[in-house]
Amino acid sequence: MHIRTIFIMTLSIAMVGCSVKNLESSQQSNKVEMLLATMTLEEKVGQMTQIDFSVIAGQGDELIDQAKLIDAILTRHVGSILNTPNNKAQSVEDWRKVIHTINSVTEKSRLKIPVLYGIDAIHGASYTKNSTLFPQAINMAATFNPELSGKEGEITAQEIRVSGLQWNFSPVMDIGRQPLWSRLWETYGEDVHLASVLGSAYIKGYQGDDISAPNKGLTCLKHYVGYSVPNNGKDRTPAWISERMLREYFLPSFEAGIKAGSPTIMVNSGEVDGIPGHANYHYLTTILRGELGFKGVAVSDWEDIKRLYVRDKLASSPKEAVKIAVMAGVDMSMVPFDYSFYDLLIELVKSGEVPMARIDEAVRRILTVKDQAGLFKGTPLPLSVDEYFATQASTATNLQAARESIVLAKNSQNILPLKKDAKILITGPTANSLSVLNGGWTLSWQGDNDSLLPKDKLTVYGALQKKSTSKVTYIGGASFGDKIDIKKAVEAAKDQDIIVLCLGEKPYTETMGNIPSLNIDQAQVELANALFATGKPVVLVILGGRPRIITEQAENASAVLLGFLPGMEGGVAIADILYGDYNPNGKLPISYPRNTNDIVLYDHKPIENFDTNSYTPLYPFGHGLSYSQFKTSGLTIDKPHYKMGEPIHISVNVTNTGSIKGKETVLVYLNDMAATVTRPNKQLKAFKKVELNPQQKENITFTLTPNDLSFIGVDLKRLVEPGDFKVMVGSETAQFLVTE
Ligand code: BGC
Repeated sequence: MHIRTIFIMTLSIAMVGCSVKNLESSQQSNKVEMLLATMTLEEKVGQMTQIDFSVIAGQGDELIDQAKLIDAILTRHVGSILNTPNNKAQSVEDWRKVIHTINSVTEKSRLKIPVLYGIDAIHGASYTKNSTLFPQAINMAATFNPELSGKEGEITAQEIRVSGLQWNFSPVMDIGRQPLWSRLWETYGEDVHLASVLGSAYIKGYQGDDISAPNKGLTCLKHYVGYSVPNNGKDRTPAWISERMLREYFLPSFEAGIKAGSPTIMVNSGEVDGIPGHANYHYLTTILRGELGFKGVAVSDWEDIKRLYVRDKLASSPKEAVKIAVMAGVDMSMVPFDYSFYDLLIELVKSGEVPMARIDEAVRRILTVKDQAGLFKGTPLPLSVDEYFATQASTATNLQAARESIVLAKNSQNILPLKKDAKILITGPTANSLSVLNGGWTLSWQGDNDSLLPKDKLTVYGALQKKSTSKVTYIGGASFGDKIDIKKAVEAAKDQDIIVLCLGEKPYTETMGNIPSLNIDQAQVELANALFATGKPVVLVILGGRPRIITEQAENASAVLLGFLPGMEGGVAIADILYGDYNPNGKLPISYPRNTNDIVLYDHKPIENFDTNSYTPLYPFGHGLSYSQFKTSGLTIDKPHYKMGEPIHISVNVTNTGSIKGKETVLVYLNDMAATVTRPNKQLKAFKKVELNPQQKENITFTLTPNDLSFIGVDLKRLVEPGDFKVMVGSETAQFLVTE
């Protein structure tokens, strides 16, 4: 039977008795089926091919080489292009030109299938000049505020749509349980529940109810799955994750992202249990499709199909690498520099080594996602800059996110807030730099191209200077690595009331950020020691993507502010907190280690807190001070005894016992008191952030579901076991029993 006939029959069956909504979705899927039926093998494999912008890049002022673009689209039929030209942020106008040029060539193609452009807009539109650059994910986690995460998604979508872009390789749903890892800061921290809630909120904000709306777009969950716990701490090195651990700690956040509606997923660039992410049929097909029901596109990470051959020696040739990855479940290859994937996959289909059905499956997914994104509706006019790009409202949201993301870890004798007329010495490698506030993926991949940074944003020094009514003295090097003149700093300290010492890390990401130890570098230790020796009170401000060891410095300091990577408004936010113009409320989304090798996480097993073992981080997960005090009281559970499957209702009061207004996050932890697989001493199951006036008391209720009580059992299946459970909120605990 002719393919067209099959299509018409399907359409007539689909139309019998269907509602308008069903009709719309069946028309959409029919569009995809119709296209698929007319596509050649080359056109199909082209859709599965994603190239880097450099493949079509022009020379000099010409961003695009027309001949290369024509080759990519008309000859190789590429379905997707990624990345920013010349590895640096472009103006809105240049982005619009790029997208327009690509679309005008697509228009000339036989089937006019639009190219899907992908970009890493991981903390705002990070490759568009002057965009709103938010705190990085580790900071967003410290806000414990899903509403802000949703807003970040909403604003990021708008700002990349202004540039004509749409597909965002974000959010990172990996769980950050290896503090040495150079991408820890791209995660929402060490807790599964927190990451799931914040990532889902981001996706919903970014995509809204209709991904094809002019101010919305496609998100991408990454890096599926098990990327974030390399054993030796270095990026792209082996992780050893048992099936139970995978299901307990690493799958749930991806499951949440899929439920939140993300239609694309990027594959883990490393390996788990000896199987590279891109070769793992069990993860990519059995679990992702079979169990999690994911219907969207699985895109490879950078060059990773080739690496099955060149790096992993899993494949004996580049061609075998393509076969393994495609058959494992990768739908689109981020090749990214050539057409080898395209050529080899065509050969593999012609020789019968890869069945056409697998190609159709992948292309169907890709076209469906393009359809969901509204790409077939024609190119919409990009959103207006005035209304949607770096508006005052988005800057205000960004500032709020930065403020809520900073953790006041220590405040001896209430040395903070500072008086505006205090004489301050500010020094240290992170005191006067915008890039250290932002980290990697900021206007360039590594975030270290200072020439691209906006001129009107304030560093910590700049922001302090602006607010101070007295003198702020700055002693620093010109850039991060420059040695600071310690003698000069000590000399300058003599006339001051207080020293603000800014330590931390320079920006980095991926393998470029690999380090052998969490210790801070010697130059910073020496500077700190010399300044402590002056006897002046020191406020320590730490900036950077992972918890570098500051145990000694924190002990000697009067106050400690953990800023992580608070984004473009981070300098102002830090100054607001130091001067008390903002009451801090960030809480740690990770356990801050005391020593480099003592990495115990908050949800550790009983054995990690037994005999001589203990959980003694410098600061625990959830730690964070305020200029007010909060008290939780009256923790109650609606009944002492539940039948399996019933929801558990919890109620607790929180009171602001301080003298100023402030925000507090109430954290609800659960412990399964005896089980057939050892259970963590506690696990976060719910949280809520409230703002309270002095002496204001609020009653908060939470509902735990059977899923919250469950774990991965001996047979690797999720279950709830009857028995006693303990709920912990603040210093209070309560118990309940579950029976069959
Ligand atoms: C990173 C991904 C990123 C991709 C595209 C890779 O090297 O691992 O997180 O999305 O590059 O830029």
